[in-house]
Amino acid sequence: MPILTIESTCDETAAAVISETGDVLGDCIATQEALHEKFRGVVPEVAARAHLERILPVIDSALNQAGISHQQITAIAVADRPGLAGSLLVGLVAAKTLAIAWEKPLVAVNHLHAHLYACQIASDRNIYPCVGLVVSGGHTSLYHCEGPIELTYLGGTIDDAAGEAFDKVAAMLQLGFPGGPAVSELASRGNRKAFNFPRSLLKADNFDFSFSGLKTAVRYAIAGPGHQDFSKIEVQPQIKADLCASFETAAVDVLVQKSSIAVKKLQCSRLIVGGGVAANGYLREQLQKRSIADGFELIIAPLNLCTDNAVMGAIALEKIKRNEYASVDLDITPGLQRGF
Ligand code: KG4
Ligand code: ZN
Repeated sequence: MPILTIESTCDETAAAVISETGDVLGDCIATQEALHEKFRGVVPEVAARAHLERILPVIDSALNQAGISHQQITAIAVADRPGLAGSLLVGLVAAKTLAIAWEKPLVAVNHLHAHLYACQIASDRNIYPCVGLVVSGGHTSLYHCEGPIELTYLGGTIDDAAGEAFDKVAAMLQLGFPGGPAVSELASRGNRKAFNFPRSLLKADNFDFSFSGLKTAVRYAIAGPGHQDFSKIEVQPQIKADLCASFETAAVDVLVQKSSIAVKKLQCSRLIVGGGVAANGYLREQLQKRSIADGFELIIAPLNLCTDNAVMGAIALEKIKRNEYASVDLDITPGLQRGF
């Protein structure tokens, strides 16, 4: 008996139908990239309105793909945290309304835990215990994962997330939104040592990250302090590539080093990595090298499950196994503080 999963934490409206054994029967994502591109970042109010228009057609489409009616659904899972408040609310209200109307139980999904669960979906055996790294547009966090939903937060960014830094660098270099793929593409043609950008908190005795200093260093390298209007700055194509390459190298260095320290400290033999930035080719390559050098197993989410999607909501099956249902009083938890 399948479940319906709903995801609307940021700027993708997504729904999936997943069988009790984890097979994906239906999967629909409506992306909002085009809507936010002119603002070079996600505008929360625009995102919430777009979710509102799309959520029901997206759910219908996932059910149609699966070829089932709502009567055959056994539970409705929804990402209730963390994310943009307006975006989360649309998914939550849709899920709660359908749960009441269709008389189905509700399951709450932590979006960050779901990003990591994408690694379990792609694996044919149990991947726990392990250390988990979530690198997305809104978060950069390390966890000790004793099970799929038994996660302990170890540390995370104290300012910008890794993906946010990619997006801001792309915005300063007029590379469009979302910036990660464009920065990564240019970086592959640049000199990784052209600029010596900072690697923050590497020596700190904790698992926190900071990317705002790196972002500011790129900003100063492009325009010097105080400059606001980047559209008026002409950067030579090779310098652009060098800036992207040096930035990407600094960001990836920190992610790889801190993750490998966590694996050692927690005496784990496995690292799992999820979230939009996990799609980054250089990060995947460097993590691979480090896993071989340090002798731990590495599982990175498959490319199609790195950025936001509803398939990773299959983590709800783990909650159902543990009889962990949510009540219809469930509210959103945007999670403005750290530690999710
Ligand atoms: O997980 P996600 O879809 O949304 C959040 O939960 O935040 O992550 C989106 C982020 C964006 O910042 C985007 O620029 C970044 O993932 N991203 C990448 C790549 N593909 C997406 N960053 C670096 N390299 C990529 N190839
Ligand atoms: Zn995400």
